[in-house]
Amino acid sequence: MPERIAIVSDVHANLEALTAVMQDIARRRVKKIYCLGDLIGYGPDPNACIEVAMANFEFVIKGNHDEAISYKIPKRFKRLAAQAAFWTRKQIKPRRAPGYREQRKRWSYVKKMPRTRELGVWLMAHGSVESNLDYVHDAETALEVFEDMGESRLCFLGHTHVPGIFLLGERDEIHYVEPEDGKRYQLNGRKAIINVGSVGQPRDEDPRACWVLAREDGSFSFRRVPYEVERTADKIFRTRGLPNSLGERLFEGE
Ligand SMILES: [Fe+2]
Repeated sequence: MPERIAIVSDVHANLEALTAVMQDIARRRVKKIYCLGDLIGYGPDPNACIEVAMANFEFVIKGNHDEAISYKIPKRFKRLAAQAAFWTRKQIKPRRAPGYREQRKRWSYVKKMPRTRELGVWLMAHGSVESNLDYVHDAETALEVFEDMGESRLCFLGHTHVPGIFLLGERDEIHYVEPEDGKRYQLNGRKAIINVGSVGQPRDEDPRACWVLAREDGSFSFRRVPYEVERTADKIFRTRGLPNSLGERLFEGE
């Protein structure tokens, strides 16, 4: 890529985390921001986060939680996720009332999100290339993605909320790298899957928001950004329809 790109994922309607990440991105001379999905779901600010995305992101891949607004009962969702999806749908579904036009815009923005994006040697998706519900978290699941990548060199994913790098070895063996905050990774054309972690609901026991900076020279680094977890959690606790555990887990990053 000839320009600096920020790649974010799994914002999950967490406006405080998204705002902190946007401020960090603004300091890094980034030209474009790509989002790998799950802009909404779980968190208390779906409408505000959609507005930020519409104004700043090149595109948002359709995550399973973005897709869930299309169904009254989302497919393959556990109880907690289904409850949050139901509440989210109610918040963003257009109603004939003041603000209807804006609501319609946000609603169709989410509905029209693409499932994958290919840019040069980059391929981007939410869960896996095949489905936004697949978890790529071990050698077996990573190998399936490498098979689906075709000519692409790098595949960027989200969905697990755990940042990580899977490298393909010469004998098709998988090497896993747990990324360090701020360290530069240069892959020199090696084939890799990069999970960019989560902005709004990290699950790697680090509560800070996560995003990836891709530089002009092909190197990239993972950045962790603290934000006011208490504020987001408090909004969740005060929202009837969002289970408290969704706020509690943000403190631990789990
Ligand atoms: Fe997610």
